[in-house]
Amino acid sequence: MCGIFGYIGDNKNPLHACLDGLAQLEYRGYDSTGIAGIQDGHLIVCKKEGKLANLQNILTLKTLEVAIGHTRWATHGKVNDLNAHPHLDTMHSLAIVHNGIIENYDALKAQLKNEGAAFVTETDSEVIAHLIAKHYEGDLLKAVQTALPFLHGSYAIALIHKDHPDQIIAAAHHCPLAIGTNDAQTESIISSDPNALVGGFLKILFLRNAEIARIEKGNVQVFDSHGNLIVKTQERLECAAKAPSKDGFEHFLLKEIFEQPITIRKAMLGRFSSETAKVEFDDLKITAEEARNYKQVWFLGCGTSSLAGSIGAMYLEETAKIPAFSEIASEARYRTELIGPETLIIAISQSGETADTLTAMRAFKAKGCRTIAICNVKNSTLTREADYSIDLQAGPEISVCSSKAFTSQIAILALFALHLANLRNTTSAEALDLARAMPFIANQIQTVLEKAPQLEKIAKKYAHFDDFFFMGRRYMFTTCLEAALKLKEISYVNANGYAGGELKHGPIALISPTFPVICFCANKKTEEKIISNLMEVKARGAPIVAFAPDSMTQIHSIADDLFTLPTTIDPLAPFASAVAGQLFAYYIAKERGCDIDRPRHLAKSVTVE
Ligand code: M6R
Repeated sequence: MCGIFGYIGDNKNPLHACLDGLAQLEYRGYDSTGIAGIQDGHLIVCKKEGKLANLQNILTLKTLEVAIGHTRWATHGKVNDLNAHPHLDTMHSLAIVHNGIIENYDALKAQLKNEGAAFVTETDSEVIAHLIAKHYEGDLLKAVQTALPFLHGSYAIALIHKDHPDQIIAAAHHCPLAIGTNDAQTESIISSDPNALVGGFLKILFLRNAEIARIEKGNVQVFDSHGNLIVKTQERLECAAKAPSKDGFEHFLLKEIFEQPITIRKAMLGRFSSETAKVEFDDLKITAEEARNYKQVWFLGCGTSSLAGSIGAMYLEETAKIPAFSEIASEARYRTELIGPETLIIAISQSGETADTLTAMRAFKAKGCRTIAICNVKNSTLTREADYSIDLQAGPEISVCSSKAFTSQIAILALFALHLANLRNTTSAEALDLARAMPFIANQIQTVLEKAPQLEKIAKKYAHFDDFFFMGRRYMFTTCLEAALKLKEISYVNANGYAGGELKHGPIALISPTFPVICFCANKKTEEKIISNLMEVKARGAPIVAFAPDSMTQIHSIADDLFTLPTTIDPLAPFASAVAGQLFAYYIAKERGCDIDRPRHLAKSVTVE
């Protein structure tokens, strides 16, 4: 995580360009923000704990000749002003901003301290400043080239030096960094996320594999780790200014929850024909032979994206009749030993920058697997590195808490399952049912959204509880995990999610009148079993909130509070149920006065492992 930004050029005041860039990057972390720049031969630094607004409140600077900025998601060192980036060398000649983790910082710090470097922060990043200063002999690029091989870990860095106001040096290794220049060659911009680059049409390149760039006004030179000049392909990108808007909603999360009938339609648009039940993905070029040769499919992802993968695995098994597994990316990367080209890898990520997902995908790629990225950000690292990618087409998701990305992910996964079933010639009854029911998802979500006030009422009643137990079976098990994650993330309350069948194997000991059970019931195949689980809970006095289909009459006499959902086939029940879970979490967080769009300790894009 962390976002870095830099500007050198004539078109804007670098200070303002940087502040605007940081505003776009704040989703990557908001523990602190900082800016460094050069003015009249002096290095100037301003940094502050908290969100960008805190920095802007104390900023007295008016202009800078060149500027770099940083928005932090803390890894090493407390969240405070001191540990905020940029970091300086002992002589205060140079300033660096860093995204990533320097794994050997402790050893480097000890050595540099011995050599006289004066460390002032608890961060790993500060060693980079001292290390480069140690190797600086008048040529900034050379100093960086000499210093980088000593760093173990991941980094994207940007660096300025008071004696070189005409350049920014940048380097990246396993962390994203885009550099853009305009056609008139009057400005250069660097950013952790190309979508934060604003400036009409820009030519963009991405640094990778310890590449180092010398960035001047409208001009970029890139060198490999041995110092050889390399020619990088540049992409032309329209970087229009588009400040995200809440469109009248109180929070981005609420806006994004309410967008879902549209985003679901967009996910299917031009890909699915309800008349023919055929699916086409423009950029996916898997042949029937290739599809038949796969022995299994693995889904990789983290958090919500991983849960989407769990649902995707069920879709593939039921519909395309192929064994499928979903594994948390940070664990999957250690399970590649028995894997080879017969396994298809599907990496799911809203941002496309999640380090755990990227690392896992790379590990499977190295074993010869084909990879497909399902992602919401075009041009993200994941989409660039995967063999194929499928765009969610959900539009920017600003709230840290994922909502519309999840439902779009599972919509795409349902379509992908149909596609693979076609290619493998496995026309199952399940595939036909799925194809028939898909067109109704958006309306079912709409029905839930129209009943939001009812969910708000239920949420208010339960908002004072500090512990919740979420339960469901089969498709509703994954859905309950997702709903529990939402609640934890934005309300800071303890919310455990369990498969209903597991209740008797331990967690039932927790059940008490002060421990509400939130039960997701919309899985027809397991209806009787989940009712039995609820009876076990009821016998022990826990309040029960049920999210159940309108066809489930028995639930009325069991639940203390009931939210009814439109009835659909089991595989598609997660859509309406997940939206209800999102609203439930939202209204509890609101009632508890939490920072809904930017929950504490989190960031939208998690670029460290
Ligand atoms: O961008 P990604 O989908 O790769 O992010 C993965 C998780 O960090 C993310 O889904 C996280 O769990 C959400 N904040 C949950 O709402």
